[in-house]
Amino acid sequence: MPHPDSPAPSPHDADWWRQAVVYQVYPRSFADSDGDGIGDIPGVTSRLPYLAELGVDAVWLSPFYPSQLADGGYDVADYRDVDPRLGTLDDFDEMVATAGRLGLKIMVDIVPNHSSDQHVWFQEALAAAPGSAARERYVFRDGRGERGELPPTDWPSSFGGPAWTRIPDGQWYLHLYAPEQPDFNWDNPEVREDFHDTLRFWSDRGVAGFRVDVAHGLAKDLRAPLRDLGEQRSYQPDALPVDGSHPLWDRDAVHEIYRGWRQVFNAYDPPRFAVAEAWVRTSRRTAYASSDGLGQAFNFDFLGARLDAGELHSTIDTALADARRAGATSTWVLSNHDVVRHVSRYALPVDYTKQDIEAWLLTDGREPVPDRAAGVRKARAAALLMLALPGSAYVYQGEELGLPEVAGLERADLQDPMWVRSGGRVKGRDGCRVPLPWTGEGSSFGFGPGGSWLPQPADWGQYAADAQNEDEDSFLRLYREALRLRRTLVADEDLKWQSSPDQTRRGLLWFARANDWHTLSNLGDQPVPLPPGEILLASGPLPDDELPPWTTAWLRTGSASAR
Ligand code: GLC
Repeated sequence: MPHPDSPAPSPHDADWWRQAVVYQVYPRSFADSDGDGIGDIPGVTSRLPYLAELGVDAVWLSPFYPSQLADGGYDVADYRDVDPRLGTLDDFDEMVATAGRLGLKIMVDIVPNHSSDQHVWFQEALAAAPGSAARERYVFRDGRGERGELPPTDWPSSFGGPAWTRIPDGQWYLHLYAPEQPDFNWDNPEVREDFHDTLRFWSDRGVAGFRVDVAHGLAKDLRAPLRDLGEQRSYQPDALPVDGSHPLWDRDAVHEIYRGWRQVFNAYDPPRFAVAEAWVRTSRRTAYASSDGLGQAFNFDFLGARLDAGELHSTIDTALADARRAGATSTWVLSNHDVVRHVSRYALPVDYTKQDIEAWLLTDGREPVPDRAAGVRKARAAALLMLALPGSAYVYQGEELGLPEVAGLERADLQDPMWVRSGGRVKGRDGCRVPLPWTGEGSSFGFGPGGSWLPQPADWGQYAADAQNEDEDSFLRLYREALRLRRTLVADEDLKWQSSPDQTRRGLLWFARANDWHTLSNLGDQPVPLPPGEILLASGPLPDDELPPWTTAWLRTGSASAR
């Protein structure tokens, strides 16, 4: 059913993404149609009516390509096919067609920094001689040391250990992630051409846009001699050089690659859209979002910020200014398949850093015991805040159900390469990838007719979508109502702050957008009086016309009827 509150967006609307709500599907954990315990494409198709009813504009699918799953599918063996365990290209076409009928767009994930070591090109490279054209598609080098027994450089893998692996003939190949993920050589025109073909392949199948994995990693400085990183080894976006001089990350040359992609995108009507996953300095994000580049770049500052009014105020201002400079809109993200789910993050002490959260995961989520009620309350408040901001919101599957992180997964069940490669120091990302509960009862809580590739907790049924559907106060109903209202309210790309600096200091974020749409988030510890106006929606009860701590409300002021 198309959304009842607004005319279906024109299929030729080139700007559809600017204020879209995009729902991220992690296909192996979304819905399983055939009972093998792995979510699949027909499973996604079967749940598209749920997503249409939820009110999202587009669905972004994390990789569903053939893969040996060394990194949850981000190790792609064939960029132009569907993993047989997940379906066929016909299933994919059926999904796109069903989505189209429901007024939903489909976006896919493109993983250009590296392939799987099972990719036919990498297999050819292994079989070919050093210096051959087949090896030139990847990054093969001789080692250091007398017999070449040392890696060519000190570059680290993001999953732990060195970024080089040696093969039997003595050469080493580069992998900035797992050894099963060899990095492409983007200086090679053949690699560039091949990705253009891949972008066309999916665009021709009706895909509206792309999420670009590790977008900041492609253009490495591969001139001889390769440079060691030395003190730059530990990767922190905010510590990257401002001038793009890092040998691996966020080099200026990467934008030339995306200018080529833009030409491919613009050959379509409407032009295809892309959003960059680029963990770079905030000030350098703009370049990825430019209109002759990918078009939009993820802003993870909001996800990383504490729920502190001052911090969020400046994070929001910076993101909006950056996006405006690029001619784009900002993105807003609270969770994705790489981070601990925000209901659980918000249930931990406020000053917890990423490292503290990793340490908490290693205690299987027992120390400290999360304050579940606080986490839920804050997550609901944060959701209404995010969904009121100008730009696009990216919602991670299960976030609309208020799913917590499954912190207690047994060591033996962990699949994320981070766990093994860090030598057990980082538990990894499996806890946010546990298959969804659709029903309170039944096999794998309605995920599918069989089991589930990661074990679901025994109490998973309490979050099931079917029960939440019946409960007016549920997370699901909050998201659905927020998305319904958002469609009727969004009319501009701007916000005007209403809270005074003093109010912000006391924890209030208050802004207005066109349509007299006011959003107030109380992140302080005292209730705040509400201004006059019609209450449209609130993340929790509003006793005595006041906004209690950890609550967000949407109001319509001005000519709208008073309360
Ligand atoms: C991105 C993905 C992550 C993956 C990595 C390597 O950061 O989001 O899941 O492990 O790239 O492809």
